[in-house]
Amino acid sequence: MSNHIAFTLLICSLTAFLFSLSNATANDKFDFIIIGGGTAGLTIANRLTEHPHITVAVIEAGDKVFNNSNVTDTDKFTVALGTSIDWQYESTNQTYAAGQTVSCHAGKALGGTSTINGMTWVRGEKAQIDSWETIGNEGWSWDELLPYYKKSENFIVPSPAQVAAGASYNAVDHGEGGPLRTGYHPELLNGSLHGSVETAWKSLSIPSTIDANGGDVRGFTVEQQTLDPDANVREDAARAFYYPFQERTNLHIYLKTTVAKVIWTDNDGDAIADGVKVISSNGTVSTINAKREVILSAGSLRSPAILELSGIGNPNILDKFGIPSKIVLPGVGENLMDQPNNAIVYNSSTIFNGTTGYVTYATAADFHMEPPSDEDLPIWAEQVAAANNHAVNASSLEYIFKVQSQLLKSVTNAEVFLSTGKGIGLPPSGLLATAFWLLMPFSRGSVHINSLDPLAYPTINPNYFLVDYDLKTQAAITKWVREFWMTTPMSSLASEISPGYETLPANATDAQYIEWAKTSCKAANSTDLLSVSSNAHPLGTAAMMPRKLGGVVDNRLKVYGTANLRVVDASVIPFQISGHLTATIYAIAEKAADLIKADIK
Ligand SMILES: Cc1cc2nc3c(=O)[nH]c(=O)nc-3n(C[C@H](O)[C@H](O)[C@H](O)COP(=O)(O)OP(=O)(O)OC[C@H]3O[C@@H](n4cnc5c(N)ncnc54)[C@H](O)[C@@H]3O)c2cc1C
Ligand SMILES: *[C@@H]1O[C@H](CO)[C@@H](O)[C@H](O)[C@H]1NC(C)=O
Ligand SMILES: *[C@@H]1O[C@H](CO)[C@@H](O)[C@H](O)[C@H]1NC(C)=O
Ligand SMILES: *[C@@H]1O[C@H](CO)[C@@H](O)[C@H](O)[C@H]1NC(C)=O
Ligand SMILES: *[C@@H]1O[C@H](CO)[C@@H](O)[C@H](O)[C@H]1NC(C)=O
Ligand SMILES: *[C@@H]1O[C@H](CO)[C@@H](O)[C@H](O)[C@H]1NC(C)=O
Ligand SMILES: *[C@@H]1O[C@H](CO)[C@@H](O)[C@H](O)[C@H]1NC(C)=O
Ligand SMILES: *[C@@H]1O[C@H](CO)[C@@H](O)[C@H](O)[C@H]1NC(C)=O
Ligand SMILES: *[C@@H]1O[C@H](CO)[C@@H](O)[C@H](O)[C@H]1NC(C)=O
Ligand SMILES: *[C@@H]1O[C@H](CO)[C@@H](O)[C@H](O)[C@H]1NC(C)=O
Ligand SMILES: *[C@@H]1O[C@H](CO)[C@@H](O)[C@H](O)[C@H]1NC(C)=O
Repeated sequence: MSNHIAFTLLICSLTAFLFSLSNATANDKFDFIIIGGGTAGLTIANRLTEHPHITVAVIEAGDKVFNNSNVTDTDKFTVALGTSIDWQYESTNQTYAAGQTVSCHAGKALGGTSTINGMTWVRGEKAQIDSWETIGNEGWSWDELLPYYKKSENFIVPSPAQVAAGASYNAVDHGEGGPLRTGYHPELLNGSLHGSVETAWKSLSIPSTIDANGGDVRGFTVEQQTLDPDANVREDAARAFYYPFQERTNLHIYLKTTVAKVIWTDNDGDAIADGVKVISSNGTVSTINAKREVILSAGSLRSPAILELSGIGNPNILDKFGIPSKIVLPGVGENLMDQPNNAIVYNSSTIFNGTTGYVTYATAADFHMEPPSDEDLPIWAEQVAAANNHAVNASSLEYIFKVQSQLLKSVTNAEVFLSTGKGIGLPPSGLLATAFWLLMPFSRGSVHINSLDPLAYPTINPNYFLVDYDLKTQAAITKWVREFWMTTPMSSLASEISPGYETLPANATDAQYIEWAKTSCKAANSTDLLSVSSNAHPLGTAAMMPRKLGGVVDNRLKVYGTANLRVVDASVIPFQISGHLTATIYAIAEKAADLIKADIK
């Protein structure tokens, strides 16, 4: 070592020493740092801090919403959309959905998107979860996830009045010892509508389901929800996993603090996350260090952007912003799967003063749609690969599509959701809305940074209807939903007010249905009942898949090429699921907490 270098080192360490003296508060340091205090993030924080010697910091861009009635009120779903607790992301122009943009809502609050969502509580289908293992994620099957599905849950059995209004359940399908209350809405509609809807579906060969949470969702049922039926309050991730535990001194929450990126130790071999760079609400930039791990749980629309800003992703994208590629993972931000949502609205002379949440799941055969044909799969794989500049190539996609196509022989591919205005923020009326969406799109989109500014929003492109099978499916569902409304006794109960037979004739051709499905996805806003065009179930942007297929995390949810960075949120889910996402995200987070604990040496 030359004297010159030795001298420089001495000066450096002296400077560092003096700096640490003048800057009395050294960097905060915790065993684990969780980026995002949302649905998954707070679940993991809770489970890790069960151990009093483990310290955890959760860094959340939003604030507490404990007493915000837009959150707590179980009749106000959609009211919080577009307010300050919604990130209010917007998609790019949707080339295959008539060029329109769609609103992409996501919760910006302690509790994340669970504070603003529709509260529907439905797991995926058994075969869908099993497919995660099929593509190479050992340890991820329905049987292995089921204990975790139950672990988070505190299911409240329905009252006799709720049972009379259509509530039903199988006790074996539920957990009762977990922190998260689930159950039936306390103001279920208890008139004759339930029986009428059930009868009409039965005429279309759709059976009633006792409980949609047993791994087989096909049929008609009344939805279970994430709420406390006794207090009549929404149950979100913070209410279940944080507030009752906030006295834990080993759990520290940074609110109104945005993570800019992960910072790295300077080492050879697998990259070691040293901590995160954060920006406080007053603009101050600082560093928080992790002694063990960093866990990224910023949601599927944001986690990939944080990976890219940290140097993990596709070099073609990182290069554009001068970000050195720390780890080459072209699948980061790809594989975005969201479901497109259309709605048809009816009106009745009866005032419905109660919530319904009547949910129907159907297979392609149920709604008269051909299953995907094997010959089409390579063509679709080429289309999707071309759209993502071959970041995930056609041979990988063709393999994935084969698995998905196989799944679609048995699993459902449509959900129809029938609701009165009540429960979605509207006063009691004669309105009956049917929103519906295809469940397992072949189309894939992306989420990528478009700026070096960590506060800038990423570019979000769900690519709805890129694969025309998706559009044909959505059109077939539309036609079938109308068939439902034309079936006795629905036909004598209500009349269509939107789109109406003038816009879309009763005898419309398939081509007309296709055109309507494509164009009627209007930009979302909270006052427009027809608005929700994204079904708000984006996932897959940091997929748990083998690296060679375009995966980003392995079966322990660790980012490939890193020693101690995991992603745990909707981003890791490799295929769309028929249920709504939170049940599965809580289960993934529960399992992740066990994987992380098992790795503590
Ligand atoms: C309108 C709507 C309705 C829905 N309805 C239902 C439903 O009825 N049932 C259902 O099961 N699912 C529903 N979903 C989907 C479900 O709620 C979400 O998929 C789920 O909550 C996402 O969980 P997550 O942990 O992946 O992310 P989130 O819960 O979104 O958590 C991410 C957290 O990270 C924070 N964050 C992001 N970036 C940063 C950063 N840079 N620094 C610090 N913090 C950051 C966010 O503020 C947020 O708190 C709905 C979603 C929406 C938008
Ligand atoms: C919420 O409101 C209740 C009742 O008004 C009050 O007692 C409580 O302190 C509030 N909690 C918070 C976190 O603001
Ligand atoms: C609730 O939502 C409405 C808009 O829908 C908004 O005007 C109001 O400020 C919100 N309340 C809170 C406490 O954020
Ligand atoms: C998106 O569509 C709008 C309205 O049609 C148009 O003005 C805008 O130029 C489009 N943007 C891009 C990037 O194509
Ligand atoms: C109907 O619902 C209301 C509100 O949920 C409830 O109070 C009432 O007991 C119910 N009536 C019957 C007959 O179940
Ligand atoms: C900015 O906020 C941080 C975190 O709350 C605080 O530590 C810091 O003192 C604040 N700085 C200024 C200049 O207000
Ligand atoms: C719904 O029907 C009622 C009663 O028939 C009528 O008064 C009301 O105007 C209708 N509403 C709409 C939006 O058509
Ligand atoms: C609806 O029911 C609630 C009680 O659940 C009652 O307070 C309200 O007055 C009813 N509204 C109408 C329009 O009937
Ligand atoms: C649908 O019905 C209308 C009027 O009843 C008729 O004019 C039209 O030709 C029909 N269209 C098709 C596609 O059959
Ligand atoms: C929201 O929907 C309402 C009702 O359809 C409409 O009047 C309003 O213009 C819409 N706002 C936006 C921003 O699209
Ligand atoms: C597609 O990507 C995989 C994984 O990177 C690779 O093994 C395969 O050779 C690629 N195929 C083509 C046709 O480029």
